[in-house]
Amino acid sequence: MPKAKISALGCFAPPGVLTNKDLEKLVDTNDQWIFDRTGIRERHIASPEMATSDMAAAAARCALAQRGIEATEINAIIVCTVTPDHMFPSTACLVQNAIGARGAWGFDLIAACSSFVYGTTVGAHLVMAGTHKKVLVIGADTMSRIIDYTDRATCVLFGDGAGAVIIEPAGEDEGELGFIDFLGEVDGSGGDFLKMPAGGSRLPASHDTVDKRLHFVHQDGSQVFKYAVRKMYETCRDVLQRNGLTGEDVAIMIPHQANKRIITAAGDRLGIAPEKVMINIDRYGNTTAGTIPLATRDAIAEGRLKKGDLVLLAAVGAGYTVGASLWRWAF
Ligand code: UT7
Repeated sequence: MPKAKISALGCFAPPGVLTNKDLEKLVDTNDQWIFDRTGIRERHIASPEMATSDMAAAAARCALAQRGIEATEINAIIVCTVTPDHMFPSTACLVQNAIGARGAWGFDLIAACSSFVYGTTVGAHLVMAGTHKKVLVIGADTMSRIIDYTDRATCVLFGDGAGAVIIEPAGEDEGELGFIDFLGEVDGSGGDFLKMPAGGSRLPASHDTVDKRLHFVHQDGSQVFKYAVRKMYETCRDVLQRNGLTGEDVAIMIPHQANKRIITAAGDRLGIAPEKVMINIDRYGNTTAGTIPLATRDAIAEGRLKKGDLVLLAAVGAGYTVGASLWRWAF
């Protein structure tokens, strides 16, 4: 079975920026509260004509350019998102057409904040099965389209962004580089604590659902917070343990960026030194499927992630969905 490695990474964050000060003008909040309780200072917001597939395609083009290959070399496209352009066709189809990935197949993967961890795991397994030479996995969300900017409990948290990776077989001379392991869990009993209530088959769009603001993100923040703190720690601990590793072996933990306090609590309990825990939530907020690739890009740019490093990706999100994966970084 070939090993699967991430061979390129490209990201896209829309140029528009919404600061905490800007939010002070929209709702009863303040910069101090937002920064102290979440770690967020600003987030990027897509312009009205930009949809998720546009950001996803931009990130994909960056990854292809970095790898120096044509889109026609891609065999499969997985788009991780909770903000698809449409209910159908899938965003993967739109991205395939936008980048000209002729001959690729693909699908959207919905696991909210955990979806990039899930998507890269699925991509790695397609490669390890020996049936795929190059899989494009994209995490992209335009959260600003489903956020209620009159609800201070949620509107301060989210932003827009995308990141794409190419996963392919590692060379025989690349030793241990690439995907190592994944541990995941879903717990649907937590579904009501973070969801978009309307717009699906349970509660189709109507004047009533619009009037009641049911097409926006609804969250019981403290329930999700408590679950996330516990499960991010337990899942990371368990995936490390079953590989004979501890937090001290991790060169960098790149967690989903929902709240700085969730991240630092997990890092502390795992015994990972704070400088080895990637946090860039201050600049992007929670971009759902976009956070981990954006944080990975920044970790590389800051010289904190290098070839051969042991990387721990971790996420907890709506569903609930939970996932943690281990990779030995390959470029
Ligand atoms: O990525 C998907 C997974 N999502 C998460 O992991 C998010 C998890 N939850 C959280 O990150 C946190 O629960 C929040 C950041 C959403 C909220 O922080 P908190 O420390 O749990 O605050 P809280 O909801 O308990 O609210 C504390 C107080 C309340 O006032 P009272 O009732 O104590 O008077 C809120 O009304 O803070 C108030 N509050 C705000 N004040 C200023 C809530 N939102 C705001 C706000 N500005 N934006």
